[in-house]
Amino acid sequence: MVLNGKLVAAKVQDEVRTGVAQLRAATGVTPTLAVILLGDFPPSQVYIRNKKVACAEVGIATQDHLFPSGLSEADLLKLIQRLNDDPAIHGILLQLPLLPGMDEDRVVEAIAPKKDVDGFHPENLGRLLAGSPTVVPCTPAGVLEILDHYGIELKGQEAVVIGRSRIVGKPLAHLLLARHATVTLCHSRTQDIAFHTRRADLLAVAVGRASVVTGDMVKEGSVVIDVGINRGADGKLTGDVEFAGASARARAITPVPGGVGPMTVAMLMKNTYLAARRQLGAT
Ligand code: GUN
Repeated sequence: MVLNGKLVAAKVQDEVRTGVAQLRAATGVTPTLAVILLGDFPPSQVYIRNKKVACAEVGIATQDHLFPSGLSEADLLKLIQRLNDDPAIHGILLQLPLLPGMDEDRVVEAIAPKKDVDGFHPENLGRLLAGSPTVVPCTPAGVLEILDHYGIELKGQEAVVIGRSRIVGKPLAHLLLARHATVTLCHSRTQDIAFHTRRADLLAVAVGRASVVTGDMVKEGSVVIDVGINRGADGKLTGDVEFAGASARARAITPVPGGVGPMTVAMLMKNTYLAARRQLGAT
């Protein structure tokens, strides 16, 4: 079975659209997301465009802070401070990566935790680790949403995550752990990745390199979640998993495109809506 992320994302966005309309009716306030993009990295430009389209579709207003030719770290920190202090802004989307030489940790920490709609602030990551998450990073949250939509049981399952990024791998491992999976987190220094993947009931791959997982590495009857988005020499998008080989063995698998990708955007909408609700006292 192919797990249809587009469908699940549309469902989430429908719920957010309804919620945003109700919030506006109750408070007169439109949830507003400030969008910060530094530089001209083409993938980031695509992501920002998609996120802005989604905002428009669900009724979230956006405020652009786009700096194609860059901005100093000091000025970026000043901008973030101003957005933190502005009650009309409910969420701050700082598209990563930042410019070379910038201190990502320092900049991410400057965002007020309540406006951190990506869930990257240490306070929000800490809450996730503590087991009482407030804002969950969008991509791992989207993975859980797909699994829940299709009723995929996690309790007691062997879950293997490849990739330990702050954006995906680490938070996803914790979300799966919170659902009582037995979690193995593999990464670039793992000695024998195939040893782990072959016993995975749930395999989630977030490396950012095509064909990291081939069909022979997939356990028969498992669930495969492909978080990768890679552009091939032919210009086509592919995931981190060889789809043909893996889908012959897996019971369920996410495609690329149309799998996890749309979920990241949908969960950003949800996080922004929920952040606005909390700030407007409409919990
Ligand atoms: N860069 C790659 N993925 C993401 C994401 O989910 N959020 C942000 N802000 N930047 C990213």
